[in-house]
Amino acid sequence: MRIAIHHRVGSFSDRWISYCEQNNIDYITVNAFDNDIIVQLKGCDAFMWHHHHAQYKDVLTAKRILFALEHAGIKVFPDFKTAWHFDDKVAQKYLLEAIAAPLVPSYVFYDQQKALSWAKKTTYPKVFKLKGGAGAKNVKLIKTYGEAKKIIHQAFDKGFPQFDKLGNLKERFNKFTQGQESILGVMKGAGRLVITPNFSKLQANETGYVYFQDFIPNNESDIRVVVIGKKFAAAERRLVRKGDFRASGSGKFDYENINTTVIQLAFEVANKLDLQSVAFDFVLDKKSKPLIIEISYGFGTEGISLAPGYWDNNLNWHAGYFNPQEWMIEYLIQYIEEI
Ligand SMILES: Nc1ncnc2c1ncn2[C@@H]1O[C@H](COP(=O)(O)OP(=O)(O)O)[C@@H](O)[C@H]1O
Ligand SMILES: [Mg+2]
Repeated sequence: MRIAIHHRVGSFSDRWISYCEQNNIDYITVNAFDNDIIVQLKGCDAFMWHHHHAQYKDVLTAKRILFALEHAGIKVFPDFKTAWHFDDKVAQKYLLEAIAAPLVPSYVFYDQQKALSWAKKTTYPKVFKLKGGAGAKNVKLIKTYGEAKKIIHQAFDKGFPQFDKLGNLKERFNKFTQGQESILGVMKGAGRLVITPNFSKLQANETGYVYFQDFIPNNESDIRVVVIGKKFAAAERRLVRKGDFRASGSGKFDYENINTTVIQLAFEVANKLDLQSVAFDFVLDKKSKPLIIEISYGFGTEGISLAPGYWDNNLNWHAGYFNPQEWMIEYLIQYIEEI
């Protein structure tokens, strides 16, 4: 058995490679952007690529390559079911609605007039989001019809850039005041006012649709649950920023008070959707019922790697070390060995 890995330092591939080395698994590293990548993968049983939404070349072509290989019968990570909806909250809305999963009530419009007449009648606040992005960068609270109207006009006119320059600087400055960011980081944020990152410069503005969710109030955190191989789950609570409702990207984690109903629900949805890897973001409604706000095959490992243990799919708790990236490769190997 031979596994091919597209390596990017700082991505899941770091651990996939050290796992192969420690366990004497035959592997090669490849550059998926090579024109002859398909030829290079001849003789390999599997191909793994931790593609990332903020890497422009990944966004452009990772899914094509992975799904072409999968279509031709090669095992890949992430596979189609796991990743077709990655970094696309609107796709996730349709998918989660289609399986009647408990999604935060979500609304998408492709027509300005329809969006405006909905906005006139609906209740506030609402949460406005772009379909892509992470770390709460493209997520805003909309308090009034007036604010919604402005957003809707922009959505159907010049649209929204992938990268919010002012939002980024504000975030860095707020983190600086709380000792979570260096002065250099703030200066970098200021630099980004004039130098747009590639993933934003090279991608068109988000336009032609507008997406909102009901605002689920009184959550001091969201709940991030990672499920790998439909077998193991780990969880963290991510605390909201001071004076803000948004948790993701706050850099503040907590591992207490995670209700197993959330874990159970995460396993159920991961099974139903047949996902190799998934990170759920949950919030709790007034009755403490968990609602999904988004799903993502890729996730930051900073917080989850410090969790004091994990659950198996019988909801048994296992205290101690685990590594989600290793679960991913173990799951893939197990699958190849079974066929
Ligand atoms: N509908 C909502 N109601 C309440 N809080 C929300 C809602 N949607 C998002 N949030 C908060 O905002 C954060 C970012 O939203 P999310 O949709 O997960 O975007 P991102 O992809 O940037 O993580 C979440 O971690 C959560 O704390
Ligand atoms: Mg999120």
